[in-house]
Amino acid sequence: MSERPRVESPAALPVPRSVAIIMDGNGRWARSRGFERIRGHERGIQAVRETVEECARLGVQGLTLYAFSEENWSRPQREIDLLMRLLERFLVEERATLMDNRVKLLHVGRRERLGPSVLQKLDESVAMTAGNPGMRLGLAISYGGRAEIVDAARRLAREVRDGRLDPELIDEARFREQLYRPEIPDPDLLIRTAGEMRVSNFLLWQISYAELHVETVCWPDFRKEHLHAAFRAFGGRVRKFGAVAP
Ligand code: FPP
Repeated sequence: MSERPRVESPAALPVPRSVAIIMDGNGRWARSRGFERIRGHERGIQAVRETVEECARLGVQGLTLYAFSEENWSRPQREIDLLMRLLERFLVEERATLMDNRVKLLHVGRRERLGPSVLQKLDESVAMTAGNPGMRLGLAISYGGRAEIVDAARRLAREVRDGRLDPELIDEARFREQLYRPEIPDPDLLIRTAGEMRVSNFLLWQISYAELHVETVCWPDFRKEHLHAAFRAFGGRVRKFGAVAP
């Protein structure tokens, strides 16, 4: 059992505007208990629910969760199928939680390789929550950071080809508009669980100035106390954005 950090008073917590999480360690969590890897993914849903609710409650404006990367398509087909079924179940079963917390769900990633059943549930949940004024929850499914930048470049190239855009007008703001979900603010804080010090092709453009926080617990053990600890660590950072500290 992992050690739980001290519970922090939410009132005193520094709350980032936007948070991204690499939910790592599901397989290790399961294996270390003698279970199949998929049990770790199943248990990870509990952590997703608690994190979404707590971020919404604390006033986080954008939360992006790395649920399935472009690289994850190379996992054994059985694990992919089970992960997709889990995602579908989550998309249906969590609708009430999303509505209760006024969360707006957005898909972050490519649609091409996703099956019709998961796409249908995704689209239904996105449509159902479209009018919610609260936190934007980006679910990164079939997502790759380099793929996102390539897709954005391709869209801009088409506009130039069709004579609708002067290449000289392409700047960072214009480029950002072509990313998958520009309505989610760029993360101020990137959290990764299970102790790995990598960004793994996640939100490469958007995390340019994000603060990194690596948590040692595996994702299924991640609780709101760990989230609070990450927020406190974030609050202690001096963010200079390339300038000098005040
Ligand atoms: C990384 O752990 C986790 C994933 C590839 C999938 C994340 C999925 C979930 C948390 C559950 C479903 C999510 C939602 C949003 C419903 P890993 O398998 O790479 O773990 P390991 O590095 O220990 O093998």
